[in-house]
Amino acid sequence: MATQRRLPKVSELMEFVPGVPSLPTNRNAAARAGDLADLRRIAKRRAPAMVFDYVDGAAEQERSADRAREAFDRVTFRPRVLRNVGQIDPSAEIFGRKVGMPLVLGPTGFTRMMHQAGESAVAVAAQKAGVPYALSTMGTTSARDVRDAAPTGWNWFQMYVLKQREVIMERLSMAQDSGMDVLVVTVDTAVAGNRLRDVRHGMTIPPTIRWSQIPAMATHPAWLADFLTTEPLAFTTAGGDANNIADIAKSMFDPTVNFDDLAWMRDKWNGKLVIKGVQDVTDAQKLAEIGVDGIVISCHGGRQLDRAPVPLETLPEMRAAAGDDMHLFLDGGVRSGSDVAAAVALGADACFVGRAYLYGLMAAGQFGVEKMLSLFHDEYVRTLALLGLTSTDQLTIEAVKVRDAAVRS
Ligand SMILES: Cc1cc2nc3c(=O)[nH]c(=O)nc-3n(C[C@H](O)[C@H](O)[C@H](O)COP(=O)(O)O)c2cc1C
Repeated sequence: MATQRRLPKVSELMEFVPGVPSLPTNRNAAARAGDLADLRRIAKRRAPAMVFDYVDGAAEQERSADRAREAFDRVTFRPRVLRNVGQIDPSAEIFGRKVGMPLVLGPTGFTRMMHQAGESAVAVAAQKAGVPYALSTMGTTSARDVRDAAPTGWNWFQMYVLKQREVIMERLSMAQDSGMDVLVVTVDTAVAGNRLRDVRHGMTIPPTIRWSQIPAMATHPAWLADFLTTEPLAFTTAGGDANNIADIAKSMFDPTVNFDDLAWMRDKWNGKLVIKGVQDVTDAQKLAEIGVDGIVISCHGGRQLDRAPVPLETLPEMRAAAGDDMHLFLDGGVRSGSDVAAAVALGADACFVGRAYLYGLMAAGQFGVEKMLSLFHDEYVRTLALLGLTSTDQLTIEAVKVRDAAVRS
């Protein structure tokens, strides 16, 4: 009689796996990283392509992501010399509170997929560096667990406008109970962007390991052992049964969201309210009228609309339109402390980053995020010094010149 075959359960396989007292962490390699590109290379080696590409990829032909990044390459600094830069203070103020430098670790979903240490590790690293961290609605760690991991950190909460308003209310009160006093509402996801790398990998959340992917997984043993031997990945804030990214978005996000919904949110939320994903000056003016406290000029890292406006290019006109009272943040393509300096000089109060800290996390867990933050800190301080400046508030438009974008065929 032919043998009946079946797939083994992970729990059965685990019985054959010896104890894993200490997994290779790439800590030594990460410690030697000279810049973020080095951390990205280590991350690419450690994570299977499907996971790395989920972070690294963007929508369609990835023009928005490339252009957001390329705009930073067109900035030329204008250094002044003989200015006594013996003491540099990289700190900045966000909503009247002092932070280590003008930087926010922005919201990213499914963070435990990049490394099991996930959101808690990111929050602890942010706490150590004295910069805020925004937990995503699509997080894999609860607001309470983030608070417990980083009780003295400045933890923010990011919300998508979900179809079920009662779920929003519940999540907001959980965030508030966990001491989160800044709410970031992301508004550029009426529908999900078409991220072709995910489509081609057949990406699901959580990742399902198909037979065809086993060779790729087997060549990334640290990530695989991490994935198989720790708490299974699950959403802690969002819900739903779908598991491919486009379907998750479709089941949760409300495409009918409009300015009235934001006025409703303004009414319900007592803390600071920041709207993320604004790309147009008249939208920014309308949000100012509703009484929001800040705007993130963002194309979602190029993961939504392809050919979106370039955040760094929009920044000066946004600043002129929004006035000095509105906090203006910017993200997309920020890869170094000198990028942060360029954005601040062009009018941003601070930058958000997504991929930068995820590369660090994928490379070496919490240590990798700390390494990314120390690289950014040192680059920012060095840039100030070489510009002849000693503090963040001296970074003005005088410090930069921006070359026009080359016309592409
Ligand atoms: C893997 C990944 C997941 C993301 N998840 C979210 C999210 O859940 N909510 C959100 O508002 N933005 C999310 N973003 C967008 C980031 O907050 C941010 O806008 C973007 O990463 C900035 O571009 P950068 O990665 O070049 O820094 C995500 C970005 C990445 C790379």
